[in-house]
Amino acid sequence: MKTYKYSTAAETARALIKHIIHLMEKEPQKIFHIAFSGGSTPSQMFDLWADEFADVTPWMRMRIYWVDERCVPSEDSESNYGNMYNLLLDKVPIPDEYIYPIKGDNPPAAEAKRYSMLLQLNIPLHRGFPVMDIILLGVGEDGHTSSIFPGQEYLLSSFNPYEVSVNPYNGQKRIAMTGCLLFNAKKLIFFVTGKNKAGVVQDILSSGDTGPAAYVAHHAWDVDVFMDELAYIHSLR
Ligand code: 6PG
Repeated sequence: MKTYKYSTAAETARALIKHIIHLMEKEPQKIFHIAFSGGSTPSQMFDLWADEFADVTPWMRMRIYWVDERCVPSEDSESNYGNMYNLLLDKVPIPDEYIYPIKGDNPPAAEAKRYSMLLQLNIPLHRGFPVMDIILLGVGEDGHTSSIFPGQEYLLSSFNPYEVSVNPYNGQKRIAMTGCLLFNAKKLIFFVTGKNKAGVVQDILSSGDTGPAAYVAHHAWDVDVFMDELAYIHSLR
């Protein structure tokens, strides 16, 4: 696990965007299959990406997927796809056919199966499972990631690439990427900002057994953690 710390959330987001672009520049002939998480943290990154990095991003070599999705229509403000499309994808020259949303308004179990199959067909396999080139993960204050909440750790050992999970705080169903993809990826990047995440950052940096995000951070192949000072300094207290 490699940690990267920056003064503000915006500087962390800028550094993360540059990091992703650099990874793609290192392999200029390669198509990158990249899965994005949702929630509020990435929104600032999407904004900055559209405003400051659109012209230096190899959009035609990117295939965009989602780590997880809330089971709502794409027009819903809760939609991870809708949020990323409105803030970034609708503003940059990436063909729609390179964007693979999870369909939040499909029946959840059927959509988990559909999306799992789509990735199995779209992405090179290793050990029988798709190999994502980059997976961008957020972290909840309770230590969840990829909509895998504490108590749902069985999803970390699922052989189904996506499964239905439930947000325990509001009962909302979600489609969640499971361990067979998370631990098969070439690169996982956590993006965590704000002092409200300091506790979970301390958990992640100190142990692999304090929740889903910490477990993934300590057991995945190649993990980077991008965070701002508020998330890091407060975690030292
Ligand atoms: C989602 C996300 C989820 C997110 C964390 C952090 O659909 O909510 O993919 O896993 O990364 O909940 O969310 P915030 O960035 O809003 O704190």
